[in-house]
Amino acid sequence: MSGSVEDAKSQGYRFDARRLSMLNTMLERILKDIKPDKKEIERLTACSNELMSRLRSVVPKNVEIITAGSIAHGTHLKGSSDIDIFMLFPKEQDERAMEKKALEFAKRIVNRKKNESYEIKYAEHPYLRLFLGDLDVNADIVPAFKIRDASEMGSAVDRTQLHTEFIVSHLSEKQKDEVRLLKYMLEQHGIYGAEAITEGFSGYLCELLIYYYGSFAKLIEGFARLSPPVALYPTSRSVAIGKELGELVKRFGSGFIVIDPTDKGRNVAANVSIESLSRLALLSRELLKHPVRKVFFGPEYEEVDAFSKLSRFEKITGTKRYAIIMQLDDIAEDILWQQMKRLKNRLESELSRYGFAPMLSLQALEKDKGAIVFFIDRSAKHIDVVQGPSAFMAGASEKFARVHSARALSSVLKADKLVYLEKPKYATPEILIKVLLNRKQDIPTHIRKGSIKVLTGRMPNLYAQIVYQRLVFATSI
Ligand code: CTP
Repeated sequence: MSGSVEDAKSQGYRFDARRLSMLNTMLERILKDIKPDKKEIERLTACSNELMSRLRSVVPKNVEIITAGSIAHGTHLKGSSDIDIFMLFPKEQDERAMEKKALEFAKRIVNRKKNESYEIKYAEHPYLRLFLGDLDVNADIVPAFKIRDASEMGSAVDRTQLHTEFIVSHLSEKQKDEVRLLKYMLEQHGIYGAEAITEGFSGYLCELLIYYYGSFAKLIEGFARLSPPVALYPTSRSVAIGKELGELVKRFGSGFIVIDPTDKGRNVAANVSIESLSRLALLSRELLKHPVRKVFFGPEYEEVDAFSKLSRFEKITGTKRYAIIMQLDDIAEDILWQQMKRLKNRLESELSRYGFAPMLSLQALEKDKGAIVFFIDRSAKHIDVVQGPSAFMAGASEKFARVHSARALSSVLKADKLVYLEKPKYATPEILIKVLLNRKQDIPTHIRKGSIKVLTGRMPNLYAQIVYQRLVFATSI
């Protein structure tokens, strides 16, 4: 059963006429700065046409060449996107043979005389990233199977061609510009992109959301009153309700679901974290009240003197900073981010177990350099307070005394309860962190064990900068 979008529009959270006009004037101005100009669009089109015709001249007739992604959709931002070109092979071909042939074809179009070079990248299938030296743009040449609908899909990359068909045939030119504005605003707020480091809104999700709500302003109104769980059907511009909503939430394990119009088995919003979703709800309510540049652009981040900014944060929050800096292997950012997250979560739960629950935990990553930082209450820990059973529970109370009396500095009674004051096992968070990091088998594989340092004082500038950047993001809501 589906409900209409209108069902949810019961009260409030709408732009009044004055604010709507302020918003639209602002958006028009911002669009001028972020929309590629005619020259750039022509240059990209010429470039992708040339690459497509080079490819067509080397592939057999039964391999179709198309463009996909934001450039093909007309939703790309000025100077930022890569050209996505897909080679669509007939479905009956063997996958491995197809991958091999695809790379051979792609390599044959690289023109060294034009200062072009390439790298092989790995996703569902290996693909070729072409660096068009003189043109300052890259092109991904990606193989997939030609499919008519999702039922024929072999891997996720096969879906992309269907996305392009949907977006190109459903979004108006005005809506495409509004997608650009949405992407740009989310980027300013650190929630654009589905990668693990961001856990935000992908380009395709932005396109679907603008289509679903109809416009940027309507989307802002919708998110201002968003109340998860929510499941949206962009195709029919309706929401799931009742039992159907419950089933979708269970199936996708998420409270925010956007069903892919090209594949009802996929939640396009699967990577959006609850924090990113909440940020957009808060931002939308703010923009509704104040449709001004300051809100659209979000917090300003200055790179100057990151270290003293971190120290200032410690001071005002009464915390002490424990930074773990490390060198990482040169592999995909998503994997590194997940590994650092695992380590951070493990350290955080152990710190909490021993009474040092961090007030704030951060992780930051820049190429092969990573940092995990905990801000922990400054007050020194002199004792562990261990509460025991009632003095009237004879057996339990004796057992408790046997286990704890040797380590206890003192014991007191709180009403009938025995309370032992013990010397803490770890006197400071630093000692505990070092013990934990010494368990080499617990360090994820792509973190270089020998490179790990625990710092409480000054930290190298590059690390201070990337940590400060995350701090600004974490504390700007
Ligand atoms: N795609 C997807 N889900 C993702 C990422 C990508 O379905 N999480 C598919 C979509 O069909 C998308 C295409 O891959 O259109 C290209 O994605 P990508 O190059 O990552 O981003 P764009 O959407 O092109 O956006 P932009 O480059 O402007 O950031």
